[in-house]
Amino acid sequence: AIHRLRVLEETDSTNARLLAEAPRSGFDVLFAETQTAGRGRRGRSWHSPKGAHLYMSLGYVYAGNLSQLPPLALAVGLACAQAVTELTALPVRLKWPNDLYLDGRKLGGILIETQPLGNGQVHVVVGIGLNVRMPAEAAAMIDQPWSDLQSAATIVDRNRLAAQILDSLVTTLYKFASDGFAAFRADFERHDLLLNREVDIHDASGVQRARARGVDANGALLVEMAGDGVLRPLHAGEVSIRL
Ligand code: BTN
Repeated sequence: AIHRLRVLEETDSTNARLLAEAPRSGFDVLFAETQTAGRGRRGRSWHSPKGAHLYMSLGYVYAGNLSQLPPLALAVGLACAQAVTELTALPVRLKWPNDLYLDGRKLGGILIETQPLGNGQVHVVVGIGLNVRMPAEAAAMIDQPWSDLQSAATIVDRNRLAAQILDSLVTTLYKFASDGFAAFRADFERHDLLLNREVDIHDASGVQRARARGVDANGALLVEMAGDGVLRPLHAGEVSIRL
């Protein structure tokens, strides 16, 4: 259950702030109106204009197997997509491994960070950034195609959205803890932006062309390599995928 919920006017990063604090029992939730050092994946920054979007993190202590954690981002993405669709009826899609998409452009992202606690347990912080109403001056700072809810839906109340996401997220975290990613795989494929599309795989050795074929039971992206047609599992963190 949620044991604490705070809303700050400003913080450096809701993820960083929770990670710097001693973890509490239960779920610890932190929202901020703005972040001065919002973090994205791959060391990028997450521009966080005040009062415009949703910036939130949820922390908890995890005692399970670390190898189960990578596909958590996919389940969290589904929780967010379902919450948004419930409120707006918009068809939100997921771009493996951690992006929310709307109309082919990025609507939000998920950043899961962990901190070992030294007793076999880990502090897990699930961060979510979701574009609600992009201010014109903020749009200029973003280096990739973006979407927001306000351009696509009737006006969305940020408080209702926050509540819906939290609700959906808590249910998802319990289900993930008991049944693992397997319980989400079919639903993920229904939301999979990349499914059966041609993608570029960027990794340390360069770029390769392939066709995305869904995810496996561990949440690895399955790709069919151009040329030999071999199906290969890709792990988040080792590659980046572009359409
Ligand atoms: C990405 O797409 O790169 C992930 C973006 C995650 C942004 C959210 S905003 C709330 C939380 N606090 C952070 O510093 N980052 C995440």
